[in-house]
Amino acid sequence: MRNLRIINHPLLKHYLSIIRDKKTEQILFKNSLDKISYLLAAEVYGTLNTESKSVDTPFKKIKGTKIKDKVIILPILRAGLGLTNGFIELYPEVITSHIGIFRDEESLKPVHYYFRFPKLKDKSNVCVIILDPMIATGGSALFTIEYLLNMGIKKIKLVSVLSAPEGIENIDKRFNKTEKRNIEIFTCAVDEKLNNKGYIVPGLGDAGDRLFGT
Ligand code: PRP
Ligand code: URA
Repeated sequence: MRNLRIINHPLLKHYLSIIRDKKTEQILFKNSLDKISYLLAAEVYGTLNTESKSVDTPFKKIKGTKIKDKVIILPILRAGLGLTNGFIELYPEVITSHIGIFRDEESLKPVHYYFRFPKLKDKSNVCVIILDPMIATGGSALFTIEYLLNMGIKKIKLVSVLSAPEGIENIDKRFNKTEKRNIEIFTCAVDEKLNNKGYIVPGLGDAGDRLFGT
């Protein structure tokens, strides 16, 4: 896939191994996912557009830099909430929107139940960063991307921790092979496959349940 970036930071691999471990308890899972959110945010923010601005240092005027994009993060409830801290702390100017989606356990199809987003007059410089630790079938991510495209959002970054090849392939087939869309995917690992219940293997189990202790 053209727009897929696998992030290989040693610390990401370290924390990823902790959250994959089935013996890791809820507090350590949550803390480790939180650390991952900072490492991912640093990478993803590294792809934002910037513009120059004049800065007066105590000694002279120089050409400085500021972020040009209007950045909106969009965690997919529930598990996406576990990735928000790093994105907010590293760039507090972000707007935080929410979309609520869960997978129907039988059909594995996304069920949409919530959406809050700012009213925007000018969408030209808006960059929406979708946060969800897991891309399994890709259904939840595809629904969200489609929703944003229908709203006229053009610049979309999808950020996950683990992905299944099936999910990446589904997103690629839908958007990146046939249409010229500016959709980038960031993930820490593309795992082996989905099992017959739609879980990523080897994966980490149910991200939402492990994060919230349900
Ligand atoms: C999980 C995960 C993704 C979705 C991925 O959410 O957080 O949103 O599944 O699966 P997909 O790629 O096949 O759509 P879940 O449905 O378990 O909801 P939850 O976050 O509320 O637990
Ligand atoms: N959602 C999860 O939380 N885990 C998976 O492995 C697949 C979907």
